[in-house]
Amino acid sequence: MSDAAPETIYLSDYTAFPWTAKSVDLHFTLDPHATRVRSCIRFEPNPASPNGPESEMFLHGEKLKLIHAKIDGAPVTPTLTNEGLTIAVPSGSFTWEAEVEIDPANNTALEGLYMSGGMYCTQCEAEGFRKITYYPDRPDVMSVFSVTIDGPHPVLLSNGNPVVTSDNHAQWHDPWPKPAYLFALVAGDLIAHSGQFTTRSGRDVTLNLYVRPGDEGKCAFGMQALKDSMKWDEDVYGREYDLDLFNIVAVDDFNMGAMENKGLNIFNSSAVLASQETSTDLNFERIEAIIAHEYFHNWTGNRITCRDWFQLCLKEGLTVFRDSQFTADMRSEPVKRIGDVIDLRGRQFAEDQGPLAHPVRPESFQEINNFYTATIYEKGAEVIRMLKTLVGDQAYREALDLYFERHDGDAATIEDWLQVFEDTTGRDLSQFKRWYSQAGTPRVAVNEAWADGTLTLTFTQTLAPSATTADPQPQVIPLAVGLIGKDGREVASTQVLEMTQASQSFAFEGLTEAPVASILRGFSAPVVLDHPLSDAQRAHLLAHDTDPFNRWEAGRNLAQASLLDMIRTGVKPNAAYLAGLKTVVTDATLDPAYRALMMGLPSHSDLATALHDAGDIPDPEAIHTAVETMRTAQATDLAEHLEELYAAHQVSEAYQPDAAQSGARALANAALSLLSRNDGGALAQQQYASADNMTQQLSALGAAIRAGVGAPMLEQFQQQWRDDRLVMDKWFALQVVQAKPEDAAATAKALTEHADFNWKNPNRFRAVFGSLAMHHAGFHHGSGDGYRLLADWLIKLDPVNPQTTARMCSAFQTWKRYDPARQSLILEQVNQILTKPDLSRDTTEMLTRIAE
Ligand code: ARG
Ligand code: ZN
Repeated sequence: MSDAAPETIYLSDYTAFPWTAKSVDLHFTLDPHATRVRSCIRFEPNPASPNGPESEMFLHGEKLKLIHAKIDGAPVTPTLTNEGLTIAVPSGSFTWEAEVEIDPANNTALEGLYMSGGMYCTQCEAEGFRKITYYPDRPDVMSVFSVTIDGPHPVLLSNGNPVVTSDNHAQWHDPWPKPAYLFALVAGDLIAHSGQFTTRSGRDVTLNLYVRPGDEGKCAFGMQALKDSMKWDEDVYGREYDLDLFNIVAVDDFNMGAMENKGLNIFNSSAVLASQETSTDLNFERIEAIIAHEYFHNWTGNRITCRDWFQLCLKEGLTVFRDSQFTADMRSEPVKRIGDVIDLRGRQFAEDQGPLAHPVRPESFQEINNFYTATIYEKGAEVIRMLKTLVGDQAYREALDLYFERHDGDAATIEDWLQVFEDTTGRDLSQFKRWYSQAGTPRVAVNEAWADGTLTLTFTQTLAPSATTADPQPQVIPLAVGLIGKDGREVASTQVLEMTQASQSFAFEGLTEAPVASILRGFSAPVVLDHPLSDAQRAHLLAHDTDPFNRWEAGRNLAQASLLDMIRTGVKPNAAYLAGLKTVVTDATLDPAYRALMMGLPSHSDLATALHDAGDIPDPEAIHTAVETMRTAQATDLAEHLEELYAAHQVSEAYQPDAAQSGARALANAALSLLSRNDGGALAQQQYASADNMTQQLSALGAAIRAGVGAPMLEQFQQQWRDDRLVMDKWFALQVVQAKPEDAAATAKALTEHADFNWKNPNRFRAVFGSLAMHHAGFHHGSGDGYRLLADWLIKLDPVNPQTTARMCSAFQTWKRYDPARQSLILEQVNQILTKPDLSRDTTEMLTRIAE
């Protein structure tokens, strides 16, 4: 895009497409380098179009070779550009036909129709369909698709129900009108792992998980997760599946986790294939969640889609919220909530704090692929969680019922979404809507006053102005608050205070003694809470809070405050934290998974964020030193309990990736990690040798590497797993993750020279470079080697795969919080990338926003 400045697209410019597409017939003749796509589309004037009928039609199309085009059977010659074509059209209804040729084998961007490991597959969201044929490639154009596929492959799949299936030829019909981004096609030599589900109204649905030969043994868990998801959506949201068939296909080369194409979900193989030997407990949990997420999209995304891409959170925020409810129901609610908040703070708060900050519903963009962000997904889900907290569970369910009833078949907006809540509850949500339009993380400061048996909490909210939100206004913030008495008992159970003003007080009367307030229980709003508590008060909450999230949070706050002190002044770890931790971790009445979370520390990056928030310049090396000191202090302080914790949580039953066993392993492995600081890695070596599952094998390997005895095991691991792509991704990632800060860049560089470093595969690229970017002290090492290495590889990857390149650019988004030397080292690399000729629109937009 070096020749033309990229165009900015604005929400306020939305207009309907002048035609509707009544039907779409597609015919594919597959060939690696010369696939032919014939299309036949019936267009009718769109009565909703503001401008009435138009005489020229624009269709999107990129990298297509037009063979011929016809209107109503007569050949026509459209005007072609890099973005599409323009053609004069009749005033009423007409039929558009075209034949184009495309080159899937050379499609390394993994968008449109491409090849992966010998199979054909597609990725059309957001704007990939225009790389398959000429089309009004926008989500508000919905149509009924019929697809014919010819090609020398036993498996030929598309959306909907099969009409004809035979070797080398298949026909599909999808009765549900859909936007083009939900189109999918798959062809190849695949094996089906099949199952069956009967919906609650009695419809029999055939379920298939298609994989490449050799992966059959990794399907059972995903199949069960799919059935569980289908059942859950019926039970909790009253949503039934609506086709005879539901197919999932595993693909090795994929830019994202997975995609909800109608009736034909396509998954990154890392997001669906699972086995005891090759997947960790966390992998299983993530796979279950992603299968649920994509399945849930069938209603929140497919039956009701988005009017335009500014509304992306309409489907993504809601579907993330739904999958988090599902995981909470399937596993442990507090454990899921804590994990989600750790993730939100790590990714979304960092985004909100830097130059990439944007509202949950952005108002402009250049490249929509750059907006599949933590803000739209995770903050989008938090906004819905708040809405549910504010209106209550029953009104939430009624509003959702109304949403499905009123908007089934629609391409909807955030206004439509909020309207069903207003209509259900009679509430005015205009102020609440600011959560969708204002960027940034609000801070809520708490002031406490105690007098005559009354505790008065005064909250003050502030939101820093940002590029998209120059004049921030107060938001509606649900603050879940409970009170804990001196004896540790709850003196006031959770109530939700609804904050609407910039500053607001709430009184709790009739108390006999000053309690400790437990505020923002369950993390009731995505804000930063400034609640000045003494160490003793925090320790009291850590010991007694009846809200499991806030009990964990109290420990996290103590740990973080101690780490910040250690970083700033070199003091020793806080004794109150270590003592409180010991009590909780050894409390056998608590869920082991929860205790394992208690042993965690804020990430280096979270500490950098906190330092920056407090007006300090984070020093990555000092952060690293403090965290290591704290870990060693934990290991020393808990020393007498670690072996017992480890032994008591060994699982003797046959492996299951369920919550109970995963929790036991998480706690045992957290103990192992600390133990290996004391025993030179002996126990880790022992566990590695006897492990019968990847969770045990990988934890042991990590602990051994940290203890300096991992080298032979790394070699053995490589021998054992050299033929398993997904496990080898772990092998690549772990070495970077475990590298010493001064070695991280060199380790990553050495791995890029490994014979198995296939950099065009996004999973492998991310295994090395995603890990490097997350290695805070390594990536930000003062030498600048980390920055340089990443920039060199982004320059190399951009022409091949712009989407993955742009996504990785976010590693640079925090540059402003570091010292001047690091700032200029980072900017030098950012500018180095920006000067490359023909840099993609994706990467150009990301880096331009970052450097601003
Ligand atoms: N809709 C998919 C999901 O969240 C993600 C698709 C991402 N596509 C993209 N071009 N970034 O399940
Ligand atoms: Zn999604």
